[in-house]
Amino acid sequence: MVQRRRHAAAAVVLLPAAGLLLSGCDRTQNALAPESHSSKDIASLFWWMMGGAWLGLALVVGLLFLAWRRRNQRGIRGDRSGDKPGERLATMVVVGAGIAMPIAVIAAVFVISDLFVIKTTEAPAAGATQLTVQVIGHQWWWEVRYPGTSAVTANELHIPVRTPVRVEVQTADVIHSFWVPELNRTIDTIPGRTNAIELYADAVGRYRGQCDEFCGLEHAKMAFYVYADPPGVFRRWLADQERPAASTTSPLETAGRQVFLSASCASCHTIRGTSARADVGPDLTHLATRQTLAALTIPNDASSLANWIRHSQSVKPGNDMPDILVGGTKLRELVAYLDGLK
Ligand code: CUA
Repeated sequence: MVQRRRHAAAAVVLLPAAGLLLSGCDRTQNALAPESHSSKDIASLFWWMMGGAWLGLALVVGLLFLAWRRRNQRGIRGDRSGDKPGERLATMVVVGAGIAMPIAVIAAVFVISDLFVIKTTEAPAAGATQLTVQVIGHQWWWEVRYPGTSAVTANELHIPVRTPVRVEVQTADVIHSFWVPELNRTIDTIPGRTNAIELYADAVGRYRGQCDEFCGLEHAKMAFYVYADPPGVFRRWLADQERPAASTTSPLETAGRQVFLSASCASCHTIRGTSARADVGPDLTHLATRQTLAALTIPNDASSLANWIRHSQSVKPGNDMPDILVGGTKLRELVAYLDGLK
């Protein structure tokens, strides 16, 4: 019994520690593995503040230890009469280290973060950058638009590498927060206004982002990817996304398009080049080019897609898409059509 209790106590201590260590290893979403100038400044500020906090703790523990030793040397009822210099020193320590130093440190951190770090994270002016991306938060997915083009996508946005990109964020419903930890700080999407931030990536790659403001039941399943591409790859991707949907290449896909347009799908989604023009859910014109479904909840493959269509409310309860009562041949046709939307 005692042994079991000891094991349980060890698990209580060790499991969170192991979790912390493992989460620190996740290269795909880690604010302390910065990949841009702004996130490097944020990480440096964090480490300086962390170092300062440890120094402060060491100082307090050291003073406590000194006080304890002195008290022991004098005995519990030590004679304190006539110790004026000691009292003066104690007052100086309390006023200096307890009041003056914290004010100076907090003021310095405020000035450094406000004048330097916040500045480097800000969005480039609208006219001063070659690329602006619009991101609109929805419960619980991200709509992505490229102004000046007809490209619309969801939950996956592409930017050219080593290029300052202005990201303008808005919301269709409640407050969300757009955050790519390896690239920059968070920026909230506030109803009725547009906020902006810079996205810049030092290296080609895929960066995971996450909604950072509790926004309802599926807040945790409101993630997205940012792909930093070589400029040529980015331009090709954008040109592909601008095109209307590919035409169907088999009778199965053609039948699937008919299912899509006659079932309830078309009353919520757009597929450019067809009569489906609704904007409740994500634009599906190039659905098959995306890696995931439902804002990174499940992979984008045929079986997950079929499951998502039929059991959307089990996969992501509370989302706007009802379970669609389509099965057998019709489901196979529908999935073949959607899988062909490259
Ligand atoms: Cu959107 Cu949390």
